[in-house]
This record gives sequence, C-alpha cells and structure tokens, in this order.
Amino acid sequence: MNTLYAVIFAGTYALLPGAASAQAPALKSGEQVYKETCVACHATGVLKAPKLGDKKDWGPLLKEPQAVLTADGWVGVRDMPAKGGKPDLALEEFARAVAHMARAAGARWQDPNAAMMKQIQAAEKKALDKKAKEKNKK
Ligand code: HEC
Repeated sequence: MNTLYAVIFAGTYALLPGAASAQAPALKSGEQVYKETCVACHATGVLKAPKLGDKKDWGPLLKEPQAVLTADGWVGVRDMPAKGGKPDLALEEFARAVAHMARAAGARWQDPNAAMMKQIQAAEKKALDKKAKEKNKK
C-alpha cells in the first residue's frame, strides 16, 4: 500500500512544471534555524554554550571577525558539535543563525551576503586545517 502511494506521489510530482530540475529548498532564516537546532544548547547554556542574548557570554566571541567565528562554530569547537549537530544544515543557514545570536547579544552582524559567504568558506578551510593538525598531534 505504501509503495502504491509512493508511486502515485512520484508520478504526480514528475508532472509538476520544473519538478525535474528539483530546485534547492529555500534557506531558513537565522531565527528559524536557532529555534529548531541551536536553542537546545544556546538557550540555557548547556555544556557552557554561550547563551542567547547574554552579552557577557558573547562579548569575547563577538570581537572575532564574523567569518572566523562562524567557521569555527561550523566545524565544531570543543563541546560545540560541527554544524550544530545537524548534518543537513546549509553553511549559509548556520551562518544566519550565528548572525541572529550575535544580534541578540547586541552586535550589528548581518545575514551573510555573497562576499561574506566567500570569507566564511575561506575561514572554514583554515579551521578544518587547524582541526586536522590538532588531531595529528594527539
Ligand atoms: C549540543 C549543544 C549545542 C548545539 C545544538 C549548538 N551549540 Fe553552539 N556551542 C555549544 C557549546 C558547548 C559551545 C562552546 C564551545 C566552547 O567554546 O567550548 C558553543 C559555541 C558556539 C559558537 C562559538 C564558537 C567559538 O568559536 O567559540 C558558535 C558561533 C555557535 N556555538 C553556534 C551555534 C549555532 C549557529 C548552532 C545551531 C545551528 C549551535 N551553535 C548549536 C553547544 C551547542
């Protein structure tokens, strides 16, 4: 029965204009991503995560460039899991969530534009290299 539904669904879907080229789903806002994922730790400071809106927690972090802080969180720092522990999260969605939290702590960080995304990707490479080196040392 389930298979039948699947076939009917797939058939209907294929008839929709543009369905074949399956466009990437729209990116979520930083607030949405925060509420779905980051809130689990960043609301109350689980594992000492910097708390949303806590200027003391975020003060030192917000001195880092936006691209660097975003990339460091994305690849994972100590108890901060890579991608916030959500493997299907897009880098840009993660970056928006970081900007959302930064704004909640008083920073004027914008959702990343194309230029910022390039900087974040460059910083991601560096952060991954650093992580790989640290692993080799152990
Ligand atoms: C399982 C708990 C957990 C979840 C879920 C989580 N974080 Fe974190 N996060 C942490 C902890 C713990 C730290 C502090 C890490 C440290 O400095 O030791 C942290 C730190 C960070 C930092 C600062 C990184 C740095 O360089 O010090 C950023 C940025 C961040 N998180 C972003 C996010 C975003 C965005 C999400 C949601 C997509 C998220 N986190 C989800 C636990 C979590």
